[in-house]
Amino acid sequence: MSAQTPTSEYLRNALAEAEADYVRANPESEAQFRKAEHSLPAGNTRSSLFYGPFPLTMARGEEASLWDLDGHKYLNFLSEFTSGIFGHSHPHIVAEMRAAIGDGLNLSSHTTGEANLAAAICDRFECFDKVRLTNSGTEANIMAMVTARVVTGRDKIVVFKGGYHGGPLTFVGGASVGNVPFDFLYGRYNDLEATLTTINPHAEDIAAIVIEPVLGAGGCIPGDRAFLTGLQQWCHTKGALLIVDEVQTARHHAGGLQPVLGLKADLTTMGKFIGGCMPIGVFGGRADIMMRFDPRHPNTLAHAGTFNNNVMTMRAGLAGLTQVYTPDEAERLTALGDDFRNRLNTIAEVCGAPVHVTGVGSIMNIHTQSGPITFAEQVAQENKELKDLLFFEFLAHGIYYAKRGLVALNVCHTQVDLDRFADTFKRILTKHAPLWRELEGQAA
Ligand SMILES: Cc1ncc(COP(=O)(O)O)c(C=O)c1O
Repeated sequence: MSAQTPTSEYLRNALAEAEADYVRANPESEAQFRKAEHSLPAGNTRSSLFYGPFPLTMARGEEASLWDLDGHKYLNFLSEFTSGIFGHSHPHIVAEMRAAIGDGLNLSSHTTGEANLAAAICDRFECFDKVRLTNSGTEANIMAMVTARVVTGRDKIVVFKGGYHGGPLTFVGGASVGNVPFDFLYGRYNDLEATLTTINPHAEDIAAIVIEPVLGAGGCIPGDRAFLTGLQQWCHTKGALLIVDEVQTARHHAGGLQPVLGLKADLTTMGKFIGGCMPIGVFGGRADIMMRFDPRHPNTLAHAGTFNNNVMTMRAGLAGLTQVYTPDEAERLTALGDDFRNRLNTIAEVCGAPVHVTGVGSIMNIHTQSGPITFAEQVAQENKELKDLLFFEFLAHGIYYAKRGLVALNVCHTQVDLDRFADTFKRILTKHAPLWRELEGQAA
């Protein structure tokens, strides 16, 4: 099925009905949306959370559940776009944050907090000899790119269509006018040959290749091992740096995806769960590169940031990494996610629905097309009305995930929660059996 597939009347009607039910069920969220519009464009400050006719406003969360302004309870499978891996009220995280507040909201100096968190990060992830901390994954990626340009003395940065490295580093639709004005070259994800054809003529000007081991916002498309290691080899040969963005994938397995894929980047970025639900970004890697941030270095690179060592993130992050999301827990959640994704795909196949779930471990994406999905441009082709229908129907069953299809597990999800998601998926796909027959007929 593709975007060229004419949408069916059945689908249009089903979506209209689901949206009308949604509007009827959520008057408080709608009123809040209208109020917020007075001071925020489209009532929001996070583009990724917005959807029409108006988005839900959540009032509170506990463990794996959320309650909206109209009092509905949802199982949260959006999990704060993966950073909510601890759920909404993990006791270890809450205790550390209370302790941090008790010791003073800021300390205007170096603290033991940043040293402890940095040590835990370097112990856990073999890609890091040394790290710097930031307030977001976006900032970490910008700093990694700046670093690569300075240490190589080159200007061009290779990124991938379908990639996402932060708000002003968005390549999901290709180049974006809102991006930082670096001199980008665009590779094709999972296509080494096409990428090398694009970048080889510029080899001497390329500072870095920046890549996600799994295209995250681009649809949870796993990177092919030969593709990724081929890029690594190219960087080694041509004197460019490999920057691996593990902002999402650091949660997979005990030490992120690089060791599993045979990668060891020159620089790596992380964020999300590393801050224990508080804002964070991390960039770091080879000691010889990171030493440029030593103020005693003759060619030192400055990297300041008022909140880089904020006491809440330092304490919450350390608790998250060492007490909750331990290496064993990371292996458990990764295996659980792989099983869950396979289960959903089996349901879709049995129901004969053009729906496929991609991903790695505990982060996955529901697509409204049949698999396999290997390339970013396939995602742009999928049936958006069907995606919306699934989203509103899941909401009506008390299950919340990202409208683009992202589903992220967190440590509070129980087997009962996963069963409920899978049963709901089956119920919705079974209900719309006539639609699958119609769409199949159109595609034939
Ligand atoms: C792979 C990747 N890199 C970078 C970012 C940006 O992180 P942040 O939202 O903390 O700026 C994200 C956020 O979703 C991401 O998924």
